[in-house]
Amino acid sequence: MMVFKTHKTLTSKVKEFKTKGLSTGFVPTMGALHKGHLSLMEQALESNDILAVSIFVNPTQFDNTGDLEKYPRTVEQDVSLIYEAFGKEKVIIYTPTVKDIYGHSPVSKKYNYDGLEHVMEGANRPGHFDGVGTILEFLFHKVQPDAAYFGEKDFQQLQIVKKLVEKLELPIAIIGCAIKREPHGLAMSSRNERLSSDSREYAAFIHKSLVKARAHFKNHSIPDTIAMVESLYHNQSRLKLEYFTITSEETLVPVKRKYHKHTYRAFIVAHIEDVRLIDNLRLS
Ligand code: PAF
Repeated sequence: MMVFKTHKTLTSKVKEFKTKGLSTGFVPTMGALHKGHLSLMEQALESNDILAVSIFVNPTQFDNTGDLEKYPRTVEQDVSLIYEAFGKEKVIIYTPTVKDIYGHSPVSKKYNYDGLEHVMEGANRPGHFDGVGTILEFLFHKVQPDAAYFGEKDFQQLQIVKKLVEKLELPIAIIGCAIKREPHGLAMSSRNERLSSDSREYAAFIHKSLVKARAHFKNHSIPDTIAMVESLYHNQSRLKLEYFTITSEETLVPVKRKYHKHTYRAFIVAHIEDVRLIDNLRLS
């Protein structure tokens, strides 16, 4: 079974693959796998000889210890799910401990992502993207993938990872993959595991509000679209809106005016039953 618990054993396997000229598609995860993760893995295997998956709840990217403690940990179930879906022959899985990655001090390095880190998740979760950069720099060096696959649900993370790879000059293609949704529209997320089935259904409101925003945006200004979405949340009591913003898709800078031929994206964070859910949608 190719489950590696230490980076040393992982590295020797990676060297073997390199010697044989096999390409690797990498899907880094924090576990509690769902169909969204499996679709990233499927895409990785479609274009590469080997699928590498890491399962690690990275402590340095959590700005809230309660959130870190509550994060679902289901490693054994995750490993079985991967093997059931893809077999064992072409798959390697890395399930390290905190010590294997960080030694005795789990601290982040500091990164400059040319401003992408100062808005939205970066502004609302201090240190989050330093933690993401630290773990991914480590994993990219150990796994040495040809390509790495990330879901667009974390669109800001995807842009930041592209910037990280560019700045570190790593020869890794970063592939963004479309958001997988539950039948009622809720974006698939490991955090959904913590919701009651009733709240899970209710949380589909988040995607519905994005779809309404997209329709409204066609004939209304940006401030007007933001006000409309905020009023949707004022008129119900179960979901608490943390932020709704419209940005340029390229720079992620929040915008107030529409310019011709620009691409805009709406980003939202809302809480239900103490669970923080994020989603986004391209508007134009
Ligand atoms: O998106 C995630 O699950 C995490 O941020 C990642 C990329 C695995 C880094 O810990």
